[in-house]
Amino acid sequence: MSQEFTEKEMAPLASIEEWEDDLLVRYPDPADKDKSKEEYRNYVDSDRVATVREFYRLNHTYQTYDFVKEKEAEFLKFDKKEMSLWDAVDFLNTLVDDSDPDTDLDQMQHLLQTSEAIRQDGHPDWFVLTGFMHDMGKVLCLFGEPQWAVVGDTFPVGCQHSDKIVYPEFFEANPDSKNKEYNTKYGVYEPNCGLDKVKMSWGHDEYIYQMMKNYLPEEGLYMLRYHSFYPQHKEHAYDHLMNKHDHEMFKWVDKFNPYDLYSKVPVAPDAKALRPYYEDLVAKYLPSTLKF
Ligand SMILES: [Fe+2]
Ligand SMILES: [Fe+2]
Repeated sequence: MSQEFTEKEMAPLASIEEWEDDLLVRYPDPADKDKSKEEYRNYVDSDRVATVREFYRLNHTYQTYDFVKEKEAEFLKFDKKEMSLWDAVDFLNTLVDDSDPDTDLDQMQHLLQTSEAIRQDGHPDWFVLTGFMHDMGKVLCLFGEPQWAVVGDTFPVGCQHSDKIVYPEFFEANPDSKNKEYNTKYGVYEPNCGLDKVKMSWGHDEYIYQMMKNYLPEEGLYMLRYHSFYPQHKEHAYDHLMNKHDHEMFKWVDKFNPYDLYSKVPVAPDAKALRPYYEDLVAKYLPSTLKF
């Protein structure tokens, strides 16, 4: 049975970008430490800390094993909308961020800054496309999903919550933490069973992975599926569920992460000029319409 949430529970953040801003406070750009500190001081002092905290309280309370199963059943049918990628980008851009004083960049521009930074470093074209696609799953917000079921650090469900996950104390309120089936180190999983067998908390990562899984190389699919899995790629909290192949593939997730976190610059990329390149790239790998 689907649960009803109040408006405050649906959207504790003024915008979903506040989650990413908070990531920058937790994981400042190592190449740019002082600037980051200076830049984010206001943010740390502001009441945004409280809203991000509330966001994680909701996320950790409601992301249960059953909740994930319910969302998978609802969204992995991909029967909500069929659009060309360009229409999807326009659709995603209707998610406006009026809370962020630092940048006026829309969603499309974050995607382009990420993918252009990848391209400038000479990576293969599928890597560039992965960068361009990685946050398309945020359209879930436009389908009326709560913010904490779209963004936020992801983590495995069905086993013990690591204390390396941000705000671990909020898992106290998660019914799974009282469930004997789920609250042991391995829970429903076998040691080193491989992440493909592990259910992750629900959000824009799993959704875009499932949408793209027939179209991109495996390295790119790992980037999509685990790009918000900070408890692993930054904290290494779930080595005990990963197999050798996952570790190999996580080298790519690690390679991707700085482009996502640290490519935000206040200069908007010239979307119009870049469009022909991306049109060709999209046509090379993806069908003419995508099912959401
Ligand atoms: Fe993302
Ligand atoms: Fe992103």
